[in-house]
Amino acid sequence: MGIVGLGYVGLSSAACFGRKFRVVALDSAREKVASLRDGNVPFREKELPGLLRKGLAAGRLTFTTDYSELQAANFVFITVGTPSLHSGEMDLTQVRSSVRSLAGVVSKSDGYLIVVVKSTVLPGTARNVVKRDIERYSRKVAGKDFGLCSNPEFLREGSAVQDTLHPDRIVIGAETERDASALAGLYRRFYGNGSPEVVQTSLEGAELIKYACNSYLATKISFINLIARICERLPSVDVGEVTRAMGLDPRIGGSYLEAGPGFGGSCFPKDVKALMAYSKVLGLDASLLRAVDAINNGQPGHVLSLPERKLGGLKGKTVAVLGLAFKEGTDDIRESRGVKLVEVLIRKGAKPRVYDPLAMENARAVLGPAVSYASSAIECLTGADLGIVMTRDEEFRRLAPLDFIKQMKSPVILDARRIYEPAKFERALGFQAVGHGWRRG
Ligand code: UGA
Repeated sequence: MGIVGLGYVGLSSAACFGRKFRVVALDSAREKVASLRDGNVPFREKELPGLLRKGLAAGRLTFTTDYSELQAANFVFITVGTPSLHSGEMDLTQVRSSVRSLAGVVSKSDGYLIVVVKSTVLPGTARNVVKRDIERYSRKVAGKDFGLCSNPEFLREGSAVQDTLHPDRIVIGAETERDASALAGLYRRFYGNGSPEVVQTSLEGAELIKYACNSYLATKISFINLIARICERLPSVDVGEVTRAMGLDPRIGGSYLEAGPGFGGSCFPKDVKALMAYSKVLGLDASLLRAVDAINNGQPGHVLSLPERKLGGLKGKTVAVLGLAFKEGTDDIRESRGVKLVEVLIRKGAKPRVYDPLAMENARAVLGPAVSYASSAIECLTGADLGIVMTRDEEFRRLAPLDFIKQMKSPVILDARRIYEPAKFERALGFQAVGHGWRRG
């Protein structure tokens, strides 16, 4: 099989499929491909480097920039990026260019090659862009000469390998039964007895399912962040108690109800905006999604307003920011709340000092000389007026009240990820947490 586009989704799929199948993994970036051939993964993702090296050593996994090497494949997965344009709409440049090259492979193919769209794309894209362009440039006919499926991905960064090896479900959208059952058969061979449930639908159904899932999870997060803001105004309420009780109701479920600085990463913010733009194009009222987006955009500023009042302003204050990745366990800072918070701090005239266990290099490239950089949590806190915890990294979880008291100029901390036990910290130092009513007692 072939995989085109080697970001998180493409590389994780290639390495996992490479446990059983022969995989040709293609990316247009030459340097990336050269480095992958040496077994180096260009981002931090646990388990991926080991799996990649095993696939390489077994000769099942090969990397290339050359589309002609896909000629023998029965399936080619498109996993290129679909970033947002300024308008919120998706940028299909990478999809279009990979499809054009794939059309060359389809035109020379003697067999029935099935093209599988795994990139996150809006309903209609597989049919109106992928199918149309392949037919136009290859002069072959979908359903007769080549197959087409939509097969969205649900893996999370930080657990990409485990999510790929143990998915909750497989969603397959296709125009013909032949294409759908061929892809379902491939997954059955891969997963064997533990095969997850397959949901079969149309091309557009599969495309929409991806946006519905991500936008719904993002909605849960913005919803709970609104409830958290209410809790902060109430003297004896903690949002943790609220979410625990909510989660016990199986109709609600407890996951993705962790209040915090909002959602970041390369998926939720972009997908909510794309679905919003798409709803507008359809003439539908997108105010629900607009509110989800607005709450999220306001959350870093809101988080900062909690200690700002306590300290009587932030101008000239040294603020230690612990955590810059969009979540723990990754070096990805795309749409990171930590980075957004630092930008607000700079605007307010504070002096941010930052630290992240994995994302320092990426953060430095974005934040530049406007902030100072520390090489550990403890160093970051030294002499600071305020400490803000922005991710759930283990290094931060291990910190005790005394660590803050010993290092900081004035021990005031804001737990934006709710990793500390309020009762223990409130007694010892100036403590606030997102969603924690601060006039307790
Ligand atoms: C997300 C989805 O969870 C995956 O199913 C999907 O495949 C992926 O997007 C994608 O479309 O490719 P990911 O962005 O890797 O995965 O990360 P998540 O673990 O879902 O977290 C997203 C953001 O929400 C993070 O900033 C996280 O800190 C935040 N979050 C998550 C909360 O603030 N509260 C929660 O309760 C859960």
